[in-house]
Amino acid sequence: MKHLLSIESLSAEEIRSIVDLADDLKERRGKDEPKVLEGQCWAMLFSKSSTRTRVSFEVGIRELGGSVMFLSAGDMQLGRGEPIKDTARVLGRMVHGAVIRTYAQSNVEEFAEFGKIPTINALTDEEHPCQVLADLQTIRERIGGWDGKKIVFLGDGDCNMARSWMWAAKRLNFELVIAAPETFQPSAEYLENLGAGNLVSCDTDPAKAVVGADVLYTDTWVSMGKEAESAGRLATLKGYGISQELVDLANPGAAVLHCLPAYRGHEIMEDVMEAHADEIFQQAENRLHAQKAVMLELASAWA
Ligand code: CP
Ligand code: NVA
Repeated sequence: MKHLLSIESLSAEEIRSIVDLADDLKERRGKDEPKVLEGQCWAMLFSKSSTRTRVSFEVGIRELGGSVMFLSAGDMQLGRGEPIKDTARVLGRMVHGAVIRTYAQSNVEEFAEFGKIPTINALTDEEHPCQVLADLQTIRERIGGWDGKKIVFLGDGDCNMARSWMWAAKRLNFELVIAAPETFQPSAEYLENLGAGNLVSCDTDPAKAVVGADVLYTDTWVSMGKEAESAGRLATLKGYGISQELVDLANPGAAVLHCLPAYRGHEIMEDVMEAHADEIFQQAENRLHAQKAVMLELASAWA
């Protein structure tokens, strides 16, 4: 694995290996950390806001022995129209790795191609692979794994998180149901290209979708870049928020997960959020361990 650009581009073996390594690094934290980034400086190039991703990468890079610089795209010449491929060729000659949060998936792919340094997708409009890797680690910790499990994604079923989940279901062979109104379901073309068959299905009825679920997963209804559509999205998605009534229809002990930030009263109700805070913030913590695992894998691929 030379880059982490998407869940789509990973094999099942690569995903399993990252999650296993994340468990190992979690155990070893603060004791015997592998200093694989010693002498390296990584750049984090962000065009969108972030709390978890920024902090977990900054801490993780340092814990692996490297140093890190945070670059806000708006402060760079990139924000004034310098092409991504030129930015990549400059950074690629100075830093040892890049973590990029941007809009178009093609931006991270172009950066990886021209920068010729390990490149990590820290969220695009298309995918959020780092989040799903941490989520898989959390699911295994909480309910023992994903084999034979049913995961239900409620809300905007056509967003980056839903897409990364669809690819994870296909790669790892588990059942994923997208509970969303028709306008927020993945398109027929997307599903056809995914080619996951019966593993991934869509349902407009959240109460029906969650029956037999082992994990209820949600994300904001207004992803970054979609703010102008906020009112319409909140109106159309009303009824798809995770309430205690929906949790009661799922399997006993079902996990409730949220990639955060959470908007209570919309995609998740306050009582559900607080009742499941332990697993939701464990999920946030696992960002650190899963991303360190990704960087360890990249370090060995580029050694
Ligand atoms: N879940 C997630 O990526 O959070 P941030 O936007 O705060 O990084
Ligand atoms: N779908 C959300 C995820 C935030 C972590 C967004 O893109 O804003």
